[in-house]
Amino acid sequence: MTNKTRYAVAVETAIDKLHEEGRYRTFIDIEREQGNFPHAVWRKPDGTRKDITVWCGNDYLGMGQHPVVLAAMHEALEATGAGSGGTRNISGTTVYHKRLEAELADLHQKEAALVFTSAYIANDATLSTLPKLLPGLIIYSDELNHASMIEGVRRNGGAKRIFRHNDVEHLRELLAADDPDAPKLIAFESIYSMDGDFGPIEAICDLADEFDALTYIDEVHAVGMYGPRGAGVAERDGLMGRLDIINGTLAKAYGVMGGYIAASAKMCDAIRSYAPGFIFTTSLPPAVAAGAAASVRHLKTDQARRDKQQLHAKILKMRLKGMGLPIIDHGSHIVPVIVGDPVHCKQLSDMLLEDFGIYVQPINFPTVPRGTERLRFTPSPVHEPEMLDGLVRAMDSLWSHCALIRAELTA
Ligand SMILES: Cc1ncc(COP(=O)(O)O)c(C=O)c1O
Repeated sequence: MTNKTRYAVAVETAIDKLHEEGRYRTFIDIEREQGNFPHAVWRKPDGTRKDITVWCGNDYLGMGQHPVVLAAMHEALEATGAGSGGTRNISGTTVYHKRLEAELADLHQKEAALVFTSAYIANDATLSTLPKLLPGLIIYSDELNHASMIEGVRRNGGAKRIFRHNDVEHLRELLAADDPDAPKLIAFESIYSMDGDFGPIEAICDLADEFDALTYIDEVHAVGMYGPRGAGVAERDGLMGRLDIINGTLAKAYGVMGGYIAASAKMCDAIRSYAPGFIFTTSLPPAVAAGAAASVRHLKTDQARRDKQQLHAKILKMRLKGMGLPIIDHGSHIVPVIVGDPVHCKQLSDMLLEDFGIYVQPINFPTVPRGTERLRFTPSPVHEPEMLDGLVRAMDSLWSHCALIRAELTA
């Protein structure tokens, strides 16, 4: 066998393995329709089209279709054209980027904010750069932190300690075991998106005070949706001022694209100056920055949208629970239904789509642990009651059809 053949066989074997384990990922081809979210059209592989309702999107509040956002994007597009034309350093900083950063700094009540092309990059770039700024830094990272944080911590070459998920006692043990004079940072999330559970923000801030550590919070699944101005769970709980670095996305509840950190002016300046993931990549298109800024601004006051999302999540959870479906309920907007098997999970998802026009992607390992494969629903303020009815009826009938166990609550 030539080397080239060997490479091809190795690649094919890797794909076959996923098929065998029932966790090969299939992307479905969706056409969103302007102003009509969560309705969309599925372009099937055979060329036909089917109307569907999206139940698994992270456009949590439907802002990706909001007239205020679209108007801002159109305006910037007409004014400036398509791309930014460069990195932030070399011709890619525009008035739109500056305005967005000012909007975000105000949102989180920090001195400054720094925008990246995604929250993935913001996490990776910031966490991998911090040890350059703070030699000897030890990062304490929750074991269920998002891949972007894990990657940033892994690549930074500094020391790391992984604490058991949300286990502040374990975190304390780890902090206490290290040199009291070593610089420290605790990295965690406010909402873990697969179970929808909350991080213990206050307890972690208390530990950070006690051990003189910095705090880094990922509020990606909370910004726009929690707190009186949508700044996240830390704002809701009156803890924003105790967090040193806040990470958020502009691609989920804000409905556009991009990510950021908000922190002190000096911290943002240092990351701006040292992080390759910020320096060596083209900045967001101005129209995207304008749309994101409009969305952030709008959600500072649109509490009704947040309330409606929470109400819809509550109703869906109550109704699924009422039918004995094994849902996880931590009181957030995320509604995971545990199927517990990758093949069943995919089958359910396929049948929901084909037979009921309900689109929910199966979530399998490695996104979640094996045995906890699930359907993860994200009801939004724009999912109408009849859509909710349709979803509940479909789940009821398929659960019976597949003879799946109806369980008590899992949390
Ligand atoms: C917790 C968490 N952080 C960061 C990200 C990355 O966000 P973005 O899509 O803006 O890259 C995600 C994406 O799903 C996430 O779940």
